[in-house]
Amino acid sequence: MSSNNDLNHSLILTVLLLIAFATKSEESKQIPALYVFGDSLVDSGNNHYVPGEDPQNYFPYGIDFGTPTGRCTNGKTVADFLAIYLGLPFAPAYLGLSRSKRKRIVTTGINYASAGSGILPDTSNKTSVIMDEQIKGFERTIKEILLKGLSKEAVEKHVSESLFLVSSGVNDHFKNGTFRGSRKFASYLIKEFKIRLLKLYSLGARKFFVNNVPPAGCFPSITLHSKPIGKCSEKMNKWISFYNKKLLILLHELQTQLPGFIFVHSDLNKSIMEISENPNKYGIVEASKPCCPRNINGNDLCANRNTYLFFDDHPTERVNQIYAKKCFIDHAICTPRINIRRFL
Ligand SMILES: *[C@@H]1O[C@H](CO)[C@@H](O)[C@H](O)[C@H]1NC(C)=O
Ligand SMILES: *[C@@H]1O[C@H](CO)[C@@H](O)[C@H](O)[C@H]1NC(C)=O
Ligand SMILES: *[C@@H]1O[C@H](CO)[C@@H](O)[C@H](O)[C@H]1NC(C)=O
Repeated sequence: MSSNNDLNHSLILTVLLLIAFATKSEESKQIPALYVFGDSLVDSGNNHYVPGEDPQNYFPYGIDFGTPTGRCTNGKTVADFLAIYLGLPFAPAYLGLSRSKRKRIVTTGINYASAGSGILPDTSNKTSVIMDEQIKGFERTIKEILLKGLSKEAVEKHVSESLFLVSSGVNDHFKNGTFRGSRKFASYLIKEFKIRLLKLYSLGARKFFVNNVPPAGCFPSITLHSKPIGKCSEKMNKWISFYNKKLLILLHELQTQLPGFIFVHSDLNKSIMEISENPNKYGIVEASKPCCPRNINGNDLCANRNTYLFFDDHPTERVNQIYAKKCFIDHAICTPRINIRRFL
């Protein structure tokens, strides 16, 4: 690992932290809590508690976190970088919290996300917490914890001021290992996603941070089997881009129709595609093979994790950090292109 990369790493982190603290003292409202829903991009350990063997619970996952945490990468996820940016603690996995701990921690946020889950109930519903169940977890949090300690009005205020990160949809495109994207599927999936966003809204959520779907056609598990090896599946990316276009339209529609609904849309796909197409610009040397290919083709961990785009099928911490900078500092992939904390 080059010390230059380490230096960049801590510099960017320091800048993020400084911005977080500087803005905290401004008169702009502080976001009290970050509630996280979705899949492996943001899961912080819920899958420890559902059936199935999860490699992310073991070394070398979490190697740059100090210990495996259930995160599907070597270090921090995009949800962690969002928490740093907001000046909040990392949202802990809901299923890992004891009742007493839930009580203490709930006011700064909880993570309900589950690796392998999708928007649809038929997506990995035996080995993941499906989105409907994640939302039920939040509903239980309101009833069993928030309303026990706070007045109804205070809970409503807290929920309406909190940020809801929702990152899902990629796993839905695969059923039992087979790609099922199509024009019709994109329309169906967006309708189903709308139902879940409306459910969160009905529970009082107002501020949403929504990632679009990453280019699964470029994931190592796909490109390893393509000809030539390393080539993205254009068919997959095309049908996912159909969904992604509809997603942005849906968010604007909800903002127009629902009083108080406000969103930040984050172009996760663009962030990954830009690194994939121009890796050198970002200090990435290997943009198609995974750093930790153990589950994909059985090899050992790469020597320098900071120069890889993918850890397994998921981005490395370095790539999550580049995403954070592009979104929060450069305003290049997140809309509206302004200071998210002040906007929200
Ligand atoms: C899980 O998936 C199966 C098969 O698609 C379906 O029949 C079942 O209703 C799903 N379970 C839940 C809780 O949605
Ligand atoms: C899923 O795929 C496996 C292997 O291709 C197959 O044996 C199994 O029948 C499939 N299950 C369903 C529910 O389609
Ligand atoms: C991803 O982003 C690229 C560049 O912005 C775009 O051309 C492509 O259609 C997008 N793909 C998906 C899956 O959204």
